[in-house]
Amino acid sequence: MATQSEKITYSVDEFVFDVKDIIGQQSTGPRALDAIGSNLRRLVMEGGDLTKQGVEAESSVGLPGRWLHRVPGGDFQLSVTYFPPDKPTPVHSHNRWGVECVIDGEERFTVWERIDDQGSAGKAELKVVSDGVMTRGDVRAWYDPPKNVHRQWAQGDKPVCLALLMGGDGSRQHIFDLDKGTYEDAPARPS
Ligand SMILES: [Fe+2]
Repeated sequence: MATQSEKITYSVDEFVFDVKDIIGQQSTGPRALDAIGSNLRRLVMEGGDLTKQGVEAESSVGLPGRWLHRVPGGDFQLSVTYFPPDKPTPVHSHNRWGVECVIDGEERFTVWERIDDQGSAGKAELKVVSDGVMTRGDVRAWYDPPKNVHRQWAQGDKPVCLALLMGGDGSRQHIFDLDKGTYEDAPARPS
């Protein structure tokens, strides 16, 4: 990767240490995720070629990625994940927060929050929290419920490559239908 520095001045281990420290002191609210996002950007810029680190992982969108940090029962997991162009993920939520930083390529990324009272099973009203195109070094977060709904896909003609940090086991919660204003439980799979 032409823009990737080979010299590592901030490692995955250092990043994981810092994330644990931030969560320990601030939990996982918006301010904590801002701080974590800054560190994730530093990891992308200073952590060497992350696409060659860790162990191979299967992505939910069928493109092979990498696990950089994954501990059973851990508070979070870190991966290198690819999303293809022209194949938006469904609008979905996760059970916990997440932060991502683009390593290479471009991504359209939209975050919604639920603004209904969540008292009507299968019905959901969503409002956009953030929406835009991300490029290398850009960071975005989704949050613990209700601001935990999002959709993403690559712009252009090649996959987007992300450093993706997800709270808990990264599992999805719901899949939403924007037109119908409905949702259903997500199949059990990550990202
Ligand atoms: Fe997701």
